Amino acid sequence: MKKMEQIYEGKAKKVFATDDPTLVLVSYKDDATAFNGEKRGTIVGKGAINNRVTNHLMQILEKEGVPTHFVEELSDRETVVKKVSIVPLEVIIRNISAGSFAKRFGVEEGIVFAEPTIEFSYKNDELGDPLMNAYHAVALGCATWEEIDTIKAMAFKVNDVLKAFFKAVNVDLVDFKLEFGRTPDGTIVLADEISPDTCRFWDSTTHEKLDKDRFRRDLGGVEDAYSEMMRRIMGIG
Ligand code: TMP
Ligand code: ASP
Repeated sequence: MKKMEQIYEGKAKKVFATDDPTLVLVSYKDDATAFNGEKRGTIVGKGAINNRVTNHLMQILEKEGVPTHFVEELSDRETVVKKVSIVPLEVIIRNISAGSFAKRFGVEEGIVFAEPTIEFSYKNDELGDPLMNAYHAVALGCATWEEIDTIKAMAFKVNDVLKAFFKAVNVDLVDFKLEFGRTPDGTIVLADEISPDTCRFWDSTTHEKLDKDRFRRDLGGVEDAYSEMMRRIMGIG
C-alpha cells in the first residue's frame, strides 16, 4: 500500500490517496474543535486513540453483520478504508437526553428514553449542520428513500450492538453520531469514526463524562477520559 497525495483535510482527520483507486488512507489528528470550529485545541494522543477505538468497534460491528468501510489498520494513527462517497447526513442516535436535545426541548440531561431516537443533520459546516428530516434529505438529493431506510436500520443495529458492548465495560452509551458512505456499486456502508469525539459516554456508576464533552465544556481531565475509554474498550492504554 503506497501513501500518495493528500486529497482532503477535515477538522480531525486527513485523507490520502493510495496506489489502489478503491482505497484511501485516513490519518487521525490530535486537533479538536467544537461548536463548528469556533473552539479549537489539542487533545494529546487523541488521534491514536480514536484510530484504534474506531477500528476495534468497526470490526465488532462487521462481525455482527454491519458493513463498514474498514480495511486495515496501518499504524497508530493511520488506517486504510474503502473509498466511498459520503452521504451528507450526520445520523444521531440518542438513548439518554443530553447536549442539543436537552437544550432544544428544554429538558435536563439524563432522561433515559424507553426507545432510542434518531435524527439527521445536513452535513454542511457553512450552515452549521442544520437539523433535517428525511423528506428534506430526499428533496435535496442527499439520499433516496431506500437509502434512508437502510441507514436507519443500520444505525439502530449499531446502537443495539454498541449499547450492549459498552454496558459490559460499565459505560452508558448516551448518544452518538454516525456517517455513511456509498461504495462504487451503491452499497451503503458505515464510514467515518466511532470514538470519544463522536459519542457521549457516561460511567454507569458515577455518571462521570468520558468523552469530548470534557473539552467542549472545559471540564478538565480530557486526555485522561480518552485514555480511560481506550482502556475499557481495548483492555489497554
Ligand atoms: P449534540 O447533542 O450536540 O447534537 O450531539 C449529539 C452527538 O453527536 C454527541 O455524541 C456528539 C456527536 N457530535 C459529533 O460527532 N459531531 C458534531 O459536530 C456534533 C455537534 C455532535
Ligand atoms: N463538529 C464540531 C465542530 O465542528 C465538533 C463537536 O462538537 O463535536 O467543531
